[in-house]
Amino acid sequence: MDWKPAQIGGALLPVSDVDTAVSAFLRTAPPEKRWDVDFSFDWAQADAERLTDGERSAVRFITIIEDHLPGYFAVYEKNFPVDGSVDLDTFAHNRELYHFTIRWAQEEDTHARTLERYQVEAGLADREALRMSLAKEGQQRFDLPYTAAVQFFAYPLVQEKATQIYYQHLRQVVGDPLLRDILVRLSKDEARHFSFFADMVRLYLERYGDAVVDPIREVIADFRMPLADTIRGYWRWALKIADTARYDHTEAYDHLIKVVNRAVDAKSDKVDELVSFVSACRVMRSG
Ligand SMILES: [Fe+2]
Ligand SMILES: [Fe+2]
Repeated sequence: MDWKPAQIGGALLPVSDVDTAVSAFLRTAPPEKRWDVDFSFDWAQADAERLTDGERSAVRFITIIEDHLPGYFAVYEKNFPVDGSVDLDTFAHNRELYHFTIRWAQEEDTHARTLERYQVEAGLADREALRMSLAKEGQQRFDLPYTAAVQFFAYPLVQEKATQIYYQHLRQVVGDPLLRDILVRLSKDEARHFSFFADMVRLYLERYGDAVVDPIREVIADFRMPLADTIRGYWRWALKIADTARYDHTEAYDHLIKVVNRAVDAKSDKVDELVSFVSACRVMRSG
Protein backbone atom coordinates (compact mmCIF):
# COMPACT_ATOMS: atom_id res chain seq x y z
CA MET A 1 0.00 0.00 0.00
CA ASP A 2 1.33 3.43 -0.90
CA TRP A 3 -0.07 4.75 2.32
CA LYS A 4 2.87 6.53 3.85
CA PRO A 5 2.20 10.23 4.34
CA ALA A 6 4.21 12.30 1.89
CA GLN A 7 3.78 15.98 1.25
CA ILE A 8 2.09 16.61 -2.06
CA GLY A 9 3.99 18.59 -4.70
CA GLY A 10 3.10 21.94 -6.22
CA ALA A 11 3.09 25.39 -4.68
CA LEU A 12 1.57 25.95 -1.26
CA LEU A 13 -0.10 29.12 -0.07
CA PRO A 14 1.67 31.14 2.61
CA VAL A 15 0.59 30.01 6.04
CA SER A 16 -1.08 33.38 6.68
CA ASP A 17 -3.39 32.85 3.68
CA VAL A 18 -4.41 29.42 4.92
CA ASP A 19 -5.03 30.90 8.36
CA THR A 20 -7.24 33.60 6.79
CA ALA A 21 -9.34 31.07 4.88
CA VAL A 22 -9.62 28.64 7.80
CA SER A 23 -10.51 31.34 10.32
CA ALA A 24 -13.20 32.67 7.98
CA PHE A 25 -14.60 29.16 7.65
CA LEU A 26 -14.64 28.52 11.40
CA ARG A 27 -16.50 31.79 11.96
CA THR A 28 -19.33 30.59 9.69
CA ALA A 29 -20.51 28.19 12.39
CA PRO A 30 -21.11 30.15 15.60
CA PRO A 31 -21.97 27.90 18.57
CA GLU A 32 -25.69 28.74 18.49
CA LYS A 33 -25.97 27.59 14.89
CA ARG A 34 -24.28 24.23 15.32
CA TRP A 35 -26.38 21.13 15.24
CA ASP A 36 -26.11 17.55 16.14
CA VAL A 37 -27.57 14.11 15.41
CA ASP A 38 -29.03 13.49 18.85
CA PHE A 39 -30.52 16.84 19.75
CA SER A 40 -31.54 18.64 16.57
CA PHE A 41 -34.28 16.36 15.22
CA ASP A 42 -37.46 14.81 16.51
CA TRP A 43 -36.61 11.30 15.38
CA ALA A 44 -40.05 9.95 16.30
CA GLN A 45 -41.37 11.87 13.28
CA ALA A 46 -39.14 10.09 10.75
CA ASP A 47 -41.41 8.29 8.30
CA ALA A 48 -40.23 6.53 5.16
CA GLU A 49 -43.86 5.76 4.28
CA ARG A 50 -44.02 9.32 2.99
CA LEU A 51 -41.19 8.72 0.51
CA THR A 52 -41.41 7.46 -3.04
CA ASP A 53 -39.13 4.63 -4.16
CA GLY A 54 -36.94 7.17 -5.92
CA GLU A 55 -36.60 9.25 -2.75
CA ARG A 56 -35.72 6.17 -0.72
CA SER A 57 -33.12 5.27 -3.27
CA ALA A 58 -31.66 8.79 -3.12
CA VAL A 59 -31.37 8.59 0.67
CA ARG A 60 -29.50 5.28 0.42
CA PHE A 61 -27.19 6.76 -2.18
CA ILE A 62 -26.26 9.91 -0.28
CA THR A 63 -25.79 7.94 2.94
CA ILE A 64 -23.08 5.86 1.28
CA ILE A 65 -21.39 8.96 -0.16
CA GLU A 66 -21.38 10.82 3.17
CA ASP A 67 -20.37 7.72 5.08
CA HIS A 68 -17.10 7.50 3.17
CA LEU A 69 -15.67 10.31 5.30
CA PRO A 70 -12.72 8.29 6.68
CA GLY A 71 -11.53 7.91 3.09
CA TYR A 72 -11.93 11.61 2.26
CA PHE A 73 -10.25 12.71 5.47
CA ALA A 74 -7.34 10.35 4.91
CA VAL A 75 -6.56 12.08 1.62
CA TYR A 76 -5.63 15.23 3.54
CA GLU A 77 -3.76 13.37 6.28
CA LYS A 78 -1.76 11.61 3.63
CA ASN A 79 -0.93 14.55 1.37
CA PHE A 80 -0.55 17.28 3.99
CA PRO A 81 1.15 15.43 6.85
CA VAL A 82 1.18 17.00 10.27
CA ASP A 83 4.28 15.24 11.54
CA GLY A 84 8.05 15.26 11.43
CA SER A 85 8.26 14.04 7.83
CA VAL A 86 7.93 17.63 6.54
CA ASP A 87 10.01 20.76 7.06
CA LEU A 88 8.94 23.37 9.56
CA ASP A 89 7.31 25.78 7.09
CA THR A 90 5.35 22.99 5.48
CA PHE A 91 4.31 21.74 8.89
CA ALA A 92 3.10 25.24 9.80
CA HIS A 93 1.04 25.30 6.59
CA ASN A 94 -0.40 21.82 7.17
CA ARG A 95 -1.16 22.59 10.77
CA GLU A 96 -3.39 25.52 9.78
CA LEU A 97 -5.09 23.39 7.13
CA TYR A 98 -5.68 20.70 9.77
CA HIS A 99 -7.78 23.17 11.76
CA PHE A 100 -10.09 23.14 8.76
CA THR A 101 -10.01 19.45 7.91
CA ILE A 102 -10.72 18.30 11.45
CA ARG A 103 -13.82 20.53 11.75
CA TRP A 104 -14.93 19.70 8.23
CA ALA A 105 -14.54 15.99 8.98
CA GLN A 106 -16.56 16.36 12.16
CA GLU A 107 -19.36 17.97 10.17
CA GLU A 108 -19.26 15.38 7.39
CA ASP A 109 -19.31 12.62 10.00
CA THR A 110 -22.41 14.24 11.46
CA HIS A 111 -23.99 14.13 7.99
CA ALA A 112 -23.19 10.44 7.69
CA ARG A 113 -24.54 9.61 11.13
CA THR A 114 -27.68 11.68 10.56
CA LEU A 115 -28.54 9.88 7.33
CA GLU A 116 -27.81 6.48 8.83
CA ARG A 117 -30.02 7.32 11.81
CA TYR A 118 -32.73 8.58 9.49
CA GLN A 119 -32.77 5.31 7.57
CA VAL A 120 -33.19 3.35 10.78
CA GLU A 121 -35.73 5.65 12.48
CA ALA A 122 -37.81 6.05 9.33
CA GLY A 123 -38.01 2.31 8.80
CA LEU A 124 -35.94 2.33 5.64
CA ALA A 125 -33.33 -0.07 6.94
CA ASP A 126 -32.55 -2.50 9.68
CA ARG A 127 -29.83 -1.09 11.93
CA GLU A 128 -27.51 -4.11 11.82
CA ALA A 129 -27.92 -4.75 8.12
CA LEU A 130 -27.29 -1.08 7.32
CA ARG A 131 -24.24 -0.97 9.56
CA MET A 132 -22.65 -3.90 7.76
CA SER A 133 -23.54 -2.68 4.27
CA LEU A 134 -22.03 0.73 5.04
CA ALA A 135 -18.97 -0.97 6.44
CA LYS A 136 -18.59 -2.89 3.21
CA GLU A 137 -18.85 0.26 1.09
CA GLY A 138 -16.59 2.11 3.51
CA GLN A 139 -13.76 -0.32 2.94
CA GLN A 140 -13.55 0.66 -0.72
CA ARG A 141 -10.52 2.71 -1.46
CA PHE A 142 -10.90 6.40 -2.17
CA ASP A 143 -8.05 8.37 -3.62
CA LEU A 144 -7.52 11.59 -5.50
CA PRO A 145 -4.56 10.83 -7.76
CA TYR A 146 -3.38 14.42 -8.07
CA THR A 147 0.14 15.81 -8.01
CA ALA A 148 -0.37 19.47 -7.07
CA ALA A 149 -1.67 20.86 -3.78
CA VAL A 150 -4.15 23.24 -5.46
CA GLN A 151 -5.99 20.25 -6.93
CA PHE A 152 -6.99 19.12 -3.43
CA PHE A 153 -8.96 22.37 -3.15
CA ALA A 154 -10.28 22.58 -6.71
CA TYR A 155 -11.78 19.08 -6.59
CA PRO A 156 -13.81 19.60 -3.40
CA LEU A 157 -14.83 23.08 -4.59
CA VAL A 158 -16.82 21.35 -7.34
CA GLN A 159 -17.84 18.35 -5.27
CA GLU A 160 -19.15 20.36 -2.30
CA LYS A 161 -21.09 22.73 -4.56
CA ALA A 162 -22.55 19.86 -6.58
CA THR A 163 -23.63 18.15 -3.35
CA GLN A 164 -25.15 21.35 -1.98
CA ILE A 165 -27.14 21.87 -5.17
CA TYR A 166 -28.31 18.26 -5.21
CA TYR A 167 -29.51 18.43 -1.59
CA GLN A 168 -31.41 21.61 -2.41
CA HIS A 169 -33.13 19.95 -5.35
CA LEU A 170 -33.89 16.84 -3.33
CA ARG A 171 -35.31 18.68 -0.34
CA GLN A 172 -37.84 20.37 -2.62
CA VAL A 173 -39.41 17.05 -3.54
CA VAL A 174 -39.13 14.71 -0.54
CA GLY A 175 -42.36 13.80 1.21
CA ASP A 176 -41.08 13.51 4.78
CA PRO A 177 -40.72 16.90 6.54
CA LEU A 178 -38.01 15.51 8.83
CA LEU A 179 -35.92 14.50 5.83
CA ARG A 180 -36.50 17.97 4.42
CA ASP A 181 -35.08 19.48 7.65
CA ILE A 182 -32.08 17.20 7.43
CA LEU A 183 -31.40 18.18 3.83
CA VAL A 184 -31.62 21.88 4.73
CA ARG A 185 -28.97 21.41 7.43
CA LEU A 186 -26.77 19.38 5.13
CA SER A 187 -26.99 21.77 2.19
CA LYS A 188 -26.11 24.73 4.43
CA ASP A 189 -23.00 22.92 5.63
CA GLU A 190 -22.01 21.97 2.09
CA ALA A 191 -22.36 25.63 1.09
CA ARG A 192 -19.93 26.59 3.88
CA HIS A 193 -17.52 23.87 2.84
CA PHE A 194 -17.71 25.10 -0.74
CA SER A 195 -16.90 28.64 0.42
CA PHE A 196 -13.72 27.49 2.12
CA PHE A 197 -12.46 25.60 -0.93
CA ALA A 198 -13.48 28.50 -3.17
CA ASP A 199 -11.45 30.87 -0.96
CA MET A 200 -8.44 28.59 -1.21
CA VAL A 201 -8.65 28.33 -5.00
CA ARG A 202 -9.10 32.10 -5.27
CA LEU A 203 -6.02 32.69 -3.12
CA TYR A 204 -4.03 30.27 -5.30
CA LEU A 205 -5.12 32.06 -8.47
CA GLU A 206 -4.37 35.48 -7.00
CA ARG A 207 -0.91 34.43 -5.95
CA TYR A 208 0.17 32.04 -8.68
CA GLY A 209 -2.02 32.96 -11.68
CA ASP A 210 -1.17 31.00 -14.81
CA ALA A 211 0.99 28.53 -12.90
CA VAL A 212 -2.06 26.88 -11.30
CA VAL A 213 -4.26 26.89 -14.40
CA ASP A 214 -3.15 23.52 -15.77
CA PRO A 215 -3.61 21.64 -12.49
CA ILE A 216 -7.11 23.12 -12.11
CA ARG A 217 -7.94 22.25 -15.70
CA GLU A 218 -6.82 18.68 -15.07
CA VAL A 219 -9.29 18.36 -12.17
CA ILE A 220 -12.18 19.30 -14.44
CA ALA A 221 -10.93 17.25 -17.38
CA ASP A 222 -11.41 14.00 -15.52
CA PHE A 223 -13.85 14.98 -12.83
CA ARG A 224 -15.89 12.23 -11.21
CA MET A 225 -17.98 12.51 -8.11
CA PRO A 226 -16.61 10.55 -5.12
CA LEU A 227 -17.11 6.78 -5.30
CA ALA A 228 -18.17 6.90 -8.95
CA ASP A 229 -15.60 4.17 -9.55
CA THR A 230 -16.28 2.05 -6.49
CA ILE A 231 -20.04 1.89 -5.86
CA ARG A 232 -21.43 -1.00 -7.87
CA GLY A 233 -23.82 0.18 -10.58
CA TYR A 234 -22.93 3.81 -9.78
CA TRP A 235 -23.90 5.34 -13.10
CA ARG A 236 -27.23 3.59 -13.33
CA TRP A 237 -27.96 4.56 -9.73
CA ALA A 238 -26.90 8.18 -10.33
CA LEU A 239 -29.24 8.38 -13.31
CA LYS A 240 -32.03 6.84 -11.29
CA ILE A 241 -31.72 9.34 -8.45
CA ALA A 242 -31.59 12.13 -11.03
CA ASP A 243 -35.14 11.13 -11.97
CA THR A 244 -36.21 12.11 -8.46
CA ALA A 245 -34.23 15.37 -8.21
CA ARG A 246 -31.79 16.90 -10.65
CA TYR A 247 -28.29 15.53 -10.10
CA ASP A 248 -25.65 17.00 -12.33
CA HIS A 249 -22.23 17.88 -10.97
CA THR A 250 -21.49 20.12 -13.94
CA GLU A 251 -23.97 22.62 -12.46
CA ALA A 252 -21.16 23.39 -10.03
CA TYR A 253 -18.79 24.40 -12.83
CA ASP A 254 -20.46 27.81 -13.10
CA HIS A 255 -19.32 28.42 -9.54
CA LEU A 256 -15.74 27.54 -10.36
CA ILE A 257 -15.88 29.97 -13.28
CA LYS A 258 -17.12 32.69 -10.91
CA VAL A 259 -14.20 32.02 -8.58
CA VAL A 260 -11.73 32.27 -11.46
CA ASN A 261 -13.29 35.48 -12.78
CA ARG A 262 -13.31 37.06 -9.35
CA ALA A 263 -9.68 36.12 -8.64
CA VAL A 264 -8.14 37.31 -11.88
CA ASP A 265 -8.81 40.88 -13.05
CA ALA A 266 -6.77 41.06 -16.21
CA LYS A 267 -7.10 37.62 -17.68
CA SER A 268 -4.20 36.03 -19.50
CA ASP A 269 -4.89 33.83 -22.53
CA LYS A 270 -4.29 30.85 -20.30
CA VAL A 271 -6.92 31.87 -17.79
CA ASP A 272 -9.36 32.75 -20.58
CA GLU A 273 -8.83 29.36 -22.06
CA LEU A 274 -9.47 27.69 -18.69
CA VAL A 275 -12.79 29.52 -18.40
CA SER A 276 -13.86 28.43 -21.90
CA PHE A 277 -12.80 24.89 -21.16
CA VAL A 278 -14.79 24.71 -17.93
CA SER A 279 -17.84 26.26 -19.66
CA ALA A 280 -17.59 23.68 -22.42
CA CYS A 281 -17.58 20.88 -19.83
CA ARG A 282 -20.85 22.17 -18.43
CA VAL A 283 -23.57 19.89 -19.70
CA MET A 284 -25.85 21.75 -22.08
CA ARG A 285 -29.42 21.46 -20.96
CA SER A 286 -32.63 22.55 -22.57
CA GLY A 287 -35.01 24.48 -20.38
FE1 LIG B 1 -21.74 16.25 3.65
FE1 LIG C 1 -19.29 18.93 2.65
